[in-house]
Amino acid sequence: MFEPRAIAVIGASANPEKIGHQVIENIVRSGYPGEVFPINPRGGEILGLRAHKDIGEVDAEVDVAVIAIPAERVTGAVEACGAKGVKNLVVITSGFSEIGNLEAERRIVRLARAHGMRVLGPNIFGIYSAASSLDATFGPGGITPGPVAIITQSGALGIAMIGKTATESVGLSALVSVGNKADIDEADLLEYLEADDRTRAILMYIEGVKDGDRLQRTLAEVTRVKPVVVIKSGRSKRGSMAAASHTGSLAGADEVFDAVMRQSGVLRAESIQEAFSWVRYLASTPLPSGDEAVIVTNGGGIGVMATDACEKHGVVLYDDQAVLTETFSDVMPDFGSSKNPVDLTGQATADDYARALDAVLVEDRIHAAIALYCETALFDTGRFGGLLRDVYTRYRERKPIVFSLFGGERIEKVLHDLRGEGIPVFGDVYEAVSALGALYRVRRRMRRRSEPPESIDLPIEEIRRILDGARADGRRFLLAPEAARVAAHLGLDVPKSILARSLDEAVQSAGRIGYPVAMKVVSKDIVHKSDAGGVALDLENEDEVVDAYQAILRSCRAHVPDAVITGVEMVEMVLPGVETIVGAKQDPSFGPVVMFGLGGIYVEVMKDVAFRAAPVDRSTAREMIADLRSYPLLLGVRGEARRDIDAIADVVVKLSHLIDRCREIADIEVNPLVVYERGEGTRAVDLRILIKQPKGVS
Ligand code: ACO
Repeated sequence: MFEPRAIAVIGASANPEKIGHQVIENIVRSGYPGEVFPINPRGGEILGLRAHKDIGEVDAEVDVAVIAIPAERVTGAVEACGAKGVKNLVVITSGFSEIGNLEAERRIVRLARAHGMRVLGPNIFGIYSAASSLDATFGPGGITPGPVAIITQSGALGIAMIGKTATESVGLSALVSVGNKADIDEADLLEYLEADDRTRAILMYIEGVKDGDRLQRTLAEVTRVKPVVVIKSGRSKRGSMAAASHTGSLAGADEVFDAVMRQSGVLRAESIQEAFSWVRYLASTPLPSGDEAVIVTNGGGIGVMATDACEKHGVVLYDDQAVLTETFSDVMPDFGSSKNPVDLTGQATADDYARALDAVLVEDRIHAAIALYCETALFDTGRFGGLLRDVYTRYRERKPIVFSLFGGERIEKVLHDLRGEGIPVFGDVYEAVSALGALYRVRRRMRRRSEPPESIDLPIEEIRRILDGARADGRRFLLAPEAARVAAHLGLDVPKSILARSLDEAVQSAGRIGYPVAMKVVSKDIVHKSDAGGVALDLENEDEVVDAYQAILRSCRAHVPDAVITGVEMVEMVLPGVETIVGAKQDPSFGPVVMFGLGGIYVEVMKDVAFRAAPVDRSTAREMIADLRSYPLLLGVRGEARRDIDAIADVVVKLSHLIDRCREIADIEVNPLVVYERGEGTRAVDLRILIKQPKGVS
């Protein structure tokens, strides 16, 4: 696909207004060295190339056929390509699953696969590959080769990106539009780009995820080797709706997407501008050899702004004052300060500035430099461009540098010129630090050891038998005693519980459990027990149990008149602790995912939850817990003791493995999981399990 020896364009046209003409023109103009075969039923010549009437007439092996003919003719062309022995198809044509025409799209893939062909698209703008100087798109042309690969789901945005890469001086190794992803998807392309030496950073624009399970695993591999930046639209509710109708695939829930991307080591950009700024920097800069950076500035204000930005983006500032004083002793003007941010003051001349930068860059204990400049009258701005170019050229291979320049017209010109040469200059100090922060995140990712997935022992077969029993009973959820058995198999610490089928049994059971007790209705017809008045808490004595028993039956019968009530579950009231929720579900995009949050307002109002693709190991579970904004409550605030975080991690790990290995579970939630002081464990007060609908049952 990326390095074809010969390429055919089916639908090549002599008419410059046709897409088939533009593709041929771009292939020719991009300097593709292989053979090009325009295919058009009229024959003749197109842009000086002989057009064949049928691909079958071509007297050479064809590796790639670009198809740009109306949708109803594509199947015929695919058959002809198969018969010819073409290896890959690039189907530009629209009018398939994105407008509901799913069957035709599937037929194309079936046909192609039957002939051993892979399909890119349909509904795409084509493919650019620097490896073979091939621009087989209908974009504006003029792509500069370079180290950045772009994979985009949106065609129009991808085409617009071609222009943007030129103005932003981003050179491309590849640009691929995936469109409807009928066959080849992002994961396939990432596998190629991971191994492609030209590609040093990858930018992806994603609208909806289809095979998220595989995408996540592939991204986790690739990001250990090269940086991947993702822009995903569909963040707002309205945006998700637009994206869903745009591509025919549903945009996944944003929280899950965000968490899974972070887990996979992907950098998620907020805007196209940020994404471009990051990939340009990441593709051209060596990783820092250590954690600490120094800010050199001629203005105190921007120095402080950069310091704030460093904190936000995880850039650590070097603060060994003895080394800083020594480093800058010869280069610091009278009023300057060698405290980091190192302030040369507005008195600094261009030479002072250059000497200070040199001092930073030769010092091995300093691992990265942030060079800030505010335009002043004392400074010879005319010389500035040359000075920065010189510093950058000498150190570019050794140490990461970002430059941020602020000033008027002359500074704007310096910015424009240096950016054009690929020097990392930014007009905004936050943008500069954000790029360096992205580089540090990449470094942390690449240094993180890849742990083999921990395998834990769970009695899956026993749990499956309980699920099968519920299914055989026509239920999609487990009754409390069944859920309690699952909890026991998982080794969760559940409150004592006894099923009472009569008032007498209720009273006796309460005595056996010990007061106070809680009571919950058990009925296959009542899922939301509290809403039906089927729950009573904190019952202190026999009289209260009697009253509650009658009240529960009365209220449930009124609420769901035909409900078959098996009995009432008598449960031990657990001691108060911090209430948390651990859940896991089959996500429509990413498959099994696990969630952790603090209960009550933290989940409901503040949406303070952490997600990960399941299964997770213990250290990932601990990371999830630490991700919460409300994490300090678990660490112990205002004199309270630290909570048993290891015991929470244990439940998270178990649920994540269960949801991964028992795909028939749609949703499982322990709510609340009450957490006690360190060493005292947790108690799973309520475990709710929903089973997937068997296929074909409505
Ligand atoms: N084999 C070879 N050539 C053929 C065949 C065939 N089986 N059938 C038709 N042709 C020729 C036609 O004769 C014509 O050549 P001509 O100009 O010499 O007559 C040429 O192929 C093109 O066929 P047309 O019928 O003229 O089709 P047209 O070019 O108008 O449209 C296209 C084809 C562009 C594929 C259209 O159907 C389409 O899907 N457009 C949307 C493309 C798109 O937007 N894709 C998503 C990109 S991303 C984004 O959103 C920007």
